[in-house]
Amino acid sequence: MTSTPKRVPIPANGVDYRGKIVLAPMVRSGELPSRLLALKYGADLVWGPETIDKALVGACRRVNPRNGTIEFTRVPSNGGRKEKATQESIIYRLDPVREKGKLIFQIGTASPELAVQAASLVAGDVAGIDVNSGCPKPFSTSGGMGAALLRTPDKLVAILEALVKEVGTPHQIGISVKIRILETPELTETLVKRLVATGITGLTVHCRTTPMRPRERAIRDQLRMIREICHDAGIACVMNGDVTSRDEALALMQEYGVDGAMIATSAEANSSCFRSEADGGLLPWRDVVHDYLRFCIESENRFGNTKYLLNILIPGKDKEFKEAKNAKCYADYCHMLHFDDLIADARRADEILNLSHKSITNPPPGDDARSKAVENAMAHNESARAASGAPRSKHVSPAVSGVGPIRTKSIPKSRTEEKTPVEVDVSIQAPQNPELTV
Ligand SMILES: Cc1cc2nc3c(=O)[nH]c(=O)nc-3n(C[C@H](O)[C@H](O)[C@H](O)COP(=O)(O)O)c2cc1C
Repeated sequence: MTSTPKRVPIPANGVDYRGKIVLAPMVRSGELPSRLLALKYGADLVWGPETIDKALVGACRRVNPRNGTIEFTRVPSNGGRKEKATQESIIYRLDPVREKGKLIFQIGTASPELAVQAASLVAGDVAGIDVNSGCPKPFSTSGGMGAALLRTPDKLVAILEALVKEVGTPHQIGISVKIRILETPELTETLVKRLVATGITGLTVHCRTTPMRPRERAIRDQLRMIREICHDAGIACVMNGDVTSRDEALALMQEYGVDGAMIATSAEANSSCFRSEADGGLLPWRDVVHDYLRFCIESENRFGNTKYLLNILIPGKDKEFKEAKNAKCYADYCHMLHFDDLIADARRADEILNLSHKSITNPPPGDDARSKAVENAMAHNESARAASGAPRSKHVSPAVSGVGPIRTKSIPKSRTEEKTPVEVDVSIQAPQNPELTV
């Protein structure tokens, strides 16, 4: 008789990593539009980009009235300079509808207290909190975060235990950790045995050691041992490293007996890798770029971030790559790539993001006449104002000026707020833009 395998219970608002093929956490490449793209193509869960605890503590949660996304924002400290920065920045953005039950928030931390403070802010809006214990970059390790935690297991254990007790339990979500393998199986074994005893529900292992470059082949010979330890503790084990597609992920999960697989660089290059061959497999880059741009425009994604990923998504050898590199706003991209169906929304997003004046593409025929008419009307306003002695009007972006207060009744509440009211910033105002609603 075979005994039923042990399984830790998955909290009511959490998610089981078993049987899942997921999008990896990726700074820059893992913002909201990429996550929506991966979900559209069949990713079962998505990890957000690592967010440092200190960046989130003190942030304000608000709902973007134009598209229903939830934004965590703060005014930057301005690096100790005298003049105060006034432009608030968006630290994290999520879609409470399309990412519901599928989004794992990854935190960069070296402190149980800060980890709890930061994770508590987002816990009501996500399906799990993951601790980054694998990033080898100096910005992470110099602060004792990321892969540095592999060398300070007491601290890592304390962080996970604090998160389980003070965030996971009250919010009923799972806590997990993403590690790298250590130099020897014995070292990895000792570490994993401690981690699975902290109350976590999942562990992802990036099958490379900390000094290994991303180009070096993943090493999978410790995987079965790690899986065994996870399974003995009833915890889901997710593999990562050189997994390139859904079909390959399923085969590897079978081969190594792990519960899930995580894809990073292959999804960054073309996230239709989450489609199985039976569903049509990889899509041509133009289809992917069209979907990606649509999600970016809807989400009002930071243009620099969009550009970064488009430079990866559009093949370098393609003639459109060279042209598109010069794009200065969303409408430019849509013109250059002939995505006429997106141009109207792109222009609205450009207005909101204050990019319109940078456009290097000509407005389409018909718009010339309209913009002339608008210019004339504005000139008329200005001369009428001058004649009456009124002060000159300033040109402001609709993101700042808006057209009236947002409706607070329709603001999606986090699960926490449904029980206890928390402060919601309703200070931003909405330009009329119904097409961009989710
Ligand atoms: C652009 C980029 C950003 C990344 N950012 C993160 C991150 O925020 N957190 C993390 O744990 N790993 C991060 N990683 C590592 C990946 O999540 C993954 O572990 C690694 O790329 C190996 O998977 P792959 O072989 O499928 O690429 C990043 C990787 C890339 C390429």
